[in-house]
Amino acid sequence: MDDLKQKYLTQIAGAGDEATLETIRLAAVGKKGEVALKMRELGGMTPEERQVAGPALNALKNEINSALAAKKAALADAALDARLREEWLDVTLPARSRPRGTIHPISQVTEEVTAIFAEMGFSVAEGPRIDTDWYNFDALNIPGHHPARAEMDTFYMHRAEGDNRPPHVLRTHTSPVQIRSMEAMGAPMRIICPGGVYRADYDHTHTPMFHQVEGLAIDRDISMANLKWVLEEFVKAFFEVDGVDLRFRASHFPFTEPSAEVDIRCSWEGGTLKVGEGDDWLEILGSGMVHPKVLKAGGIDPESWQGFAFGMGIDRIAMLKYGIPDLRAFFDSDLRWLRHYGFASLDQPTLHGGLSR
Ligand code: DAH
Repeated sequence: MDDLKQKYLTQIAGAGDEATLETIRLAAVGKKGEVALKMRELGGMTPEERQVAGPALNALKNEINSALAAKKAALADAALDARLREEWLDVTLPARSRPRGTIHPISQVTEEVTAIFAEMGFSVAEGPRIDTDWYNFDALNIPGHHPARAEMDTFYMHRAEGDNRPPHVLRTHTSPVQIRSMEAMGAPMRIICPGGVYRADYDHTHTPMFHQVEGLAIDRDISMANLKWVLEEFVKAFFEVDGVDLRFRASHFPFTEPSAEVDIRCSWEGGTLKVGEGDDWLEILGSGMVHPKVLKAGGIDPESWQGFAFGMGIDRIAMLKYGIPDLRAFFDSDLRWLRHYGFASLDQPTLHGGLSR
């Protein structure tokens, strides 16, 4: 019995894993193991022999079982230690690498403008970038001989000889969407139309493609006062300041009567723009009361309805708000520029959540 004990305790001590331990258990204290065989021999013994051998065998069995249990626990501890050493994680590392793409300032500003006007009940309308010269000019009270056509540096689509379709242009402003929206929705309505426009011009404040946002509100008794309030609310929200002075300067646009260009009070101290303070004025948009001829062209009766309209350069207000010096860089697709001036893709501009954060 001492030999058995010695043999198994040595084997157990030397076992390297649970499978080996199980093999040892079966050989020692399993149903057909050596201890069980010994137990069977008890039957052939005298009662006196049995009285000694019985308890001794039980003690041996218990000793082997507890050695097995202890070894099993030790093996499990060692396995856990090894796993803990292997599987570690530096929780101070960023969970995910930063997204590589950024939102272009023009997209950002378009979203900001949309969020502000949406709060005032304006929905977004869109029109084609290639449009007929009727929508781009005539319907907006700019007839063929009008000097505004020449001033706009229009891109005309090429027409083969004998092609009698109406002339098409790359739209020179978003104002044609006014006409298309009047046709589609009728009065009353309140819309803005952001989008790309084209003019043959190129220097550090002009690119052949740029962006505008048009505004149009038509109702029974809309006045310049409504226009002024809407624009003040817009400017405060957009530049994220509590108050601004707006200056309405008499101007002329063929599609509005009266017409006004709107300036905002600002300062350029130290080369950076501050809106709402200082002694300088900055022109930001053109506006006015929609000309009766324009309403008529859109199929709306000017005897019953009137409205205001405005047009603003998106690229220009983006440059002003975010201190971007050269317009041409907007369209260079330079990744360093995009990373510098771009916006995080998950920050949707909202009025309550903060527009630009
Ligand atoms: N369409 C004009 C432009 O591109 C801007 C403009 C001025 C739009 C006055 C308007 C407006 O709707 O009322 O220069």
